Amino acid sequence: MKRVILGITGGIAAYKAAEVVRGLCTRGIEVHVLMTEAATRFITPLTMQTLSGNPVVVDMFAEPRVWNVQHVAYAKRADLVLVAPATASFIGRLAAGIADDMVCATILATTAPVLIAPAMNSQMYRHPAVQANLVRLRKMGYHLIAPDVGELACGDRGEGRLADVSQIIDQVLGHLQRKADLAGKRILVTAGPTREFIDPVRFISNPSSGKMGYALAAAARDRGAQVVLVSGPTAQVPPPGVEVIQVTTTAEMLAAVLEHFPQMDVVIKAAAVVDYRPQTTAEHKMKKGSEKYVLTLERNPDILKMLGGRKGDKILVGFAAETQDLIENAREKIRAKNLDLIVANDVGQRGAGFGTDTNIASIVHRDGTIRELPLCSKLELAHHILDEVVALTGGEKD
Ligand SMILES: Cc1cc2nc3c(=O)[nH]c(=O)nc-3n(C[C@H](O)[C@H](O)[C@H](O)COP(=O)(O)O)c2cc1C
Repeated sequence: MKRVILGITGGIAAYKAAEVVRGLCTRGIEVHVLMTEAATRFITPLTMQTLSGNPVVVDMFAEPRVWNVQHVAYAKRADLVLVAPATASFIGRLAAGIADDMVCATILATTAPVLIAPAMNSQMYRHPAVQANLVRLRKMGYHLIAPDVGELACGDRGEGRLADVSQIIDQVLGHLQRKADLAGKRILVTAGPTREFIDPVRFISNPSSGKMGYALAAAARDRGAQVVLVSGPTAQVPPPGVEVIQVTTTAEMLAAVLEHFPQMDVVIKAAAVVDYRPQTTAEHKMKKGSEKYVLTLERNPDILKMLGGRKGDKILVGFAAETQDLIENAREKIRAKNLDLIVANDVGQRGAGFGTDTNIASIVHRDGTIRELPLCSKLELAHHILDEVVALTGGEKD
């Protein structure tokens, strides 16, 4: 039986959480409710306890009734955490990592997928602070269930109404039905750019944001894999439950990857590694000099090719960011580097490539078959890539 932790926070839509509990329970899901103090002003714990058939926790410091470690026990035993409704205040606390209520503390301690359904007045929802916090939560790998547009309890009309209960339930079921099809697999993902220093304050790099690699790490974790993420310098927030190794240069990335490679089943190289590095790095900051300055570069080791040479039965996935001859280049790269799959994306297209939240990609197989994907979020693309990986490991493809 799947177990969902439902966090209820103090918004007027809290009464709809009762319908969410009923909807989940009638589908055979075990529901445990956690409430903030403010939520109890809108709907009683007794109602939620009666509907869920389980004790409700509000006070983190109260004597536990069933499980003896409160928020950590809930966090560990959850297959999924849903917060509905999520207040502006809760969203801010979670984005800042403040764990002073049972709902936030449980989420900070869990590695289960977390779905958040915001509900508030439309001005509140549009406030830059709330929007920035929502972006932050999304980046952390939390799944947001966007509010509806419509009549609000305060009499206003606009965006901010809790998403329809049936939609919330569908999303929960969708996440729960996602198979743990990578359970027991060890996956290494690389992400972000590398940097090659000219002197202590100047370097050669590229605009890779790391979003794709971080999305892959979070998606693989959600599907049960044990994930190591080797990341170049990025502004991304490390996904909870993933071992993150921070590196700067290509040589450091190579060392980290080679160290972990023998224990891995799958390696996905989403990092944008700098191909050339300065032949020498000045010890001190270089002063301005003559009009022209010639920098001699030398090839960096090709990490993917090195892994291809010692591949064995591991699955190797590469990325090809191209601006022309996408598929031909991808096929060539598969051959040259002994890969199983290449995710080819035309970074010249709108909505694809560096720094965007979306991507347009084709997945090219070793045998030449191509799966073209529509414009989708990097998280969705991550799941498409993992579907192909699962198929290669002999598992089912969705
Ligand atoms: C009648 C009433 C309705 C409220 N509705 C909402 C709401 O829909 N969304 C919201 O973000 N805050 C709402 N608030 C404000 C929250 O209750 C307040 O920010 C509270 O501190 C949230 O606490 P919590 O996040 O710990 O549950 C409402 C307050 C009142 C008095």
